[in-house]
Amino acid sequence: MADFSKITSDFLNKIKDSSSLEDLLVVETSLLGRNGIINTLLKDLRTIPSEKRKEFGQSVNSLKKILASSLEERKQILMRTDDKTGYEDITLPGEKYPRGSIHLISMAVEEIGRIFEKIGFIRVSYPEVEYEFFSFESLNMPKTHAARDDFETTFIDAPEHPKYGKMLLTPHTSSGQIREMWRTKTPPIRMINMAKTYRPNWDATHTPMFFQFEGLCVDRNINITHLKGTLDYFVKEYFGRDIQARLRPHHFQFTEPSFEVDVTCTVCKGTSKIDGQKCRVCKSGWLELGGTGMVHPNVLTAGNIDPDKYSGWAFGFGIERVIMMKYGIDDIRNYYTGDVRFLEQF
Ligand code: FA5
Repeated sequence: MADFSKITSDFLNKIKDSSSLEDLLVVETSLLGRNGIINTLLKDLRTIPSEKRKEFGQSVNSLKKILASSLEERKQILMRTDDKTGYEDITLPGEKYPRGSIHLISMAVEEIGRIFEKIGFIRVSYPEVEYEFFSFESLNMPKTHAARDDFETTFIDAPEHPKYGKMLLTPHTSSGQIREMWRTKTPPIRMINMAKTYRPNWDATHTPMFFQFEGLCVDRNINITHLKGTLDYFVKEYFGRDIQARLRPHHFQFTEPSFEVDVTCTVCKGTSKIDGQKCRVCKSGWLELGGTGMVHPNVLTAGNIDPDKYSGWAFGFGIERVIMMKYGIDDIRNYYTGDVRFLEQF
């Protein structure tokens, strides 16, 4: 006679030890399959003496019941954990995928936009593919002017506009000044133009595509104190209370007088020293932010604004550079590599 208790415990162990649905299927076949143990035992029934046959048959049935129920129980457990089978338990918590975040340039665009909107500036974004007229001529830079070389502009292979000239990738957001004057028609103007700009440079502080933000304020009796006050406000809001701005005389064709704007170095906090050594970021305690000045009368005239009645100021800063200064980043090319290990720090 078969040893039913041994068969039961052997199979219960095999079922328990099955670590995948595939393993369990092998056990199930060897138990309930055509040549499995249950059928083999039932075939043996004929050879059992008739007085023992009933007891033997009941033992086979009870063996089958116990093991079949154990098999089913194990199957339920494995279906929840075994991912080779393709079964899905929709009651389990979902997988957590890594979450993306807003790119640090987009974050800065939003932050800078909000800072200027708070003091009444209107946010615009003028074309990055532009005509020569808006990028140069209207900004007091006639075709032959040497200052146009500073930008090494990328021209578009498209038909010239009879009035506005060739198409180009605008090298600065100053091209939005005339468009905004034309749009508003009469001052007051409070514009913040944030857009992509292009110049063929590539090093730690230059990328061929970069963002600028351009402030333009035109009204009656606007003077340099309003400009300085606005720059101080921006610098304190964006970089923090202990950072200051200063104006350093410079030259731009479209402003007179013109300045470059420096801010207190955010790395050495304006002391020009770190641990007794010269600050390697600024060397002087100041960092250059961009250009500014009082709008040139010729530019106001091109914008159909009477320079005898109105005056204004403008500034243009690089967004990559202001982010660099805020976080002490030493190479702006990192922004565009798409390396999440860099980007997820912000
Ligand atoms: C201008 O572009 C002037 N249009 C700024 C201006 C506006 C002056 C209004 C007066 C009135 P500049 O060429 O210096 O100026 O560029 C301004 C800033 O843009 C630079 O200080 C720098 O922050 C950023 N910048 C320029 N070229 C690049 C580049 N290739 N990559 C990243 N940032 C750049």
